[in-house]
Amino acid sequence: MSNVATAGDQPVHDSEATGQYYTGVVKAFAIMTVVWGVVGMAVGVLLAAQLVWPDLNNLLQPYTHFGRLRPLHTNAVIFAFGGCALFATSYHVVQRTCRTRLISNGAAWFTFWGWQLVILAAAITLPMGFTSSKEYAELEWPIDIAITIVWLVYAYVFFGTIMKRTIKHIYVANWFYGGFILTVAMLHVVNSMEVPVSMWKSYSVYSGAIDAMIQWWYGHNAVGFFLTAGFLGMMYYFVPKQAERPVYSYRLSIVHFWALIALYIWAGPHHLHYTALPDWTQTLGMVMSLVLWAPSWGGMINGIMTLSGAWTKLRTDPTLRFLVVSLSFYAMATFEGPMMAIKSVNAMSHYTDWTIGHVHSGALGWVAMISIGAVYHLIPVLTQRKEMWSVQLIHAHFWLATIGTVLYIASMWVNGLMQGLMWRAFNDDGTLTYRFVDSVEASYPGYFVRLLGGAMFLAGMLLMLYNLYRTVSDKEPEQSSDAAAAPGQPA
Ligand code: HEM
Ligand code: HEM
Repeated sequence: MSNVATAGDQPVHDSEATGQYYTGVVKAFAIMTVVWGVVGMAVGVLLAAQLVWPDLNNLLQPYTHFGRLRPLHTNAVIFAFGGCALFATSYHVVQRTCRTRLISNGAAWFTFWGWQLVILAAAITLPMGFTSSKEYAELEWPIDIAITIVWLVYAYVFFGTIMKRTIKHIYVANWFYGGFILTVAMLHVVNSMEVPVSMWKSYSVYSGAIDAMIQWWYGHNAVGFFLTAGFLGMMYYFVPKQAERPVYSYRLSIVHFWALIALYIWAGPHHLHYTALPDWTQTLGMVMSLVLWAPSWGGMINGIMTLSGAWTKLRTDPTLRFLVVSLSFYAMATFEGPMMAIKSVNAMSHYTDWTIGHVHSGALGWVAMISIGAVYHLIPVLTQRKEMWSVQLIHAHFWLATIGTVLYIASMWVNGLMQGLMWRAFNDDGTLTYRFVDSVEASYPGYFVRLLGGAMFLAGMLLMLYNLYRTVSDKEPEQSSDAAAAPGQPA
């Protein structure tokens, strides 16, 4: 194994003390990751409760209607929670692995305040009903412009820092972060081309099948690059770091990068099977999705095998558990995705809760868990403490998150399969066996279990928020409440 494989695996506390790196903006983004995580997931729990008790739609009509809160949830968890996690970790990782400070602290703070402003604007306009009606790109044109400006400055800070690196090599995590930043810029600009007709209303410049195709080219690659490539960058830094092992195979990580980047971009049409899209594009989307399984699992195996020789750490280190279990859920979601992309399977899964189960095995199991693990690693490093205020609370959080995720996705799989089968059941005379409302009634137990799982996940996030507050406000870290019970942390 070459030396570069350990490039992301350097001792950090020493350099922290010398002030070699800029940590202020990283800390701010890390804290907001947890805050927005709590907010976004609380909205998710409310949505889950509305599907059990529809009267909850009327809490504060029309602002609390499911249709208005759903995009608020997706924007909050993806762009506020996930986005802050990506900003925090990319600014941290790029400095450490390039052995240099950020190119501009001012520009980095601009991205922090700009991003918070975008989130605030989303939190106000979405419940008010302002929407472009494109999924995951609902925000109206003035906010789209603000996102573009913040993103360009982000690219300047990230790539500018890489340009002034003091070592020749560019560690693989930065490749993933870089791929994510460039591709998201392209996706956002192309998909958000719109004609404003008033301050808060615009229409897409595309129409019909082309509009749908571009939207799901965007939508799928928002998954591929925002929810996957950036978080793989996180994986390539924080898993080796927390496990105190070099990446299992650096060569595989490079193959992983190029294969993932080359394949993801073609798979969008699997969201539009059996629609007005030309048939060949649907088939292309299906085939590319199937091929995508290989690099996804290659990367996952590279991450998990990084623990070779360090498996025992899993028994005592809950942060490492978050990181490793996230890879298991990543494996699950990226096996399931290609299966769902097969047209005949999609004929059954589409429109059902199976999709929602798939989404959250990726979103809770992968995206949220790896972010949580990364933040638990980061906070002690950034505050120059040996560990979080309470490691026992991280243990509790881990179990709440894992059991919560399993309850969520298992209930949605059961619901999804049941709905798909009920909708396609025919009597001998060719009439439908079930009315649609029969399938809704049959879904209630699953919705209740999902609510339970979601509430557990949220409870874990609240523990994290409290632990974070105690860690950051604790003036004397030596008096950490359970310092003795915290083995397995990096020295
Ligand atoms: C190899 C990897 C993957 C493939 C091939 C894949 C494929 C699919 C397919 C076929 C659908 C259903 C489309 C439909 O019927 O409407 C879907 C939905 C979705 N997937 Fe994946 N998936 C993959 C990984 C992931 C991961 C890791 C996440 C992470 C968070 C994720 C998030 C989503 C989301 C958010 C949707 C719902 C989109 C929507 O309709 O709003 N996927 N995926
Ligand atoms: C406590 C945790 C969470 C709960 C209770 C929750 C609940 C929900 C509910 C009830 C829906 C609407 C489902 C429907 O329309 O039938 C939903 C949709 C969605 N959630 Fe979550 N969620 C949580 C966390 C997350 C996280 C962390 C992410 C992303 C990182 C996420 C991403 C999404 C996405 C992308 C959709 C739209 C799926 C689609 O259109 O196919 N959720 N969530």
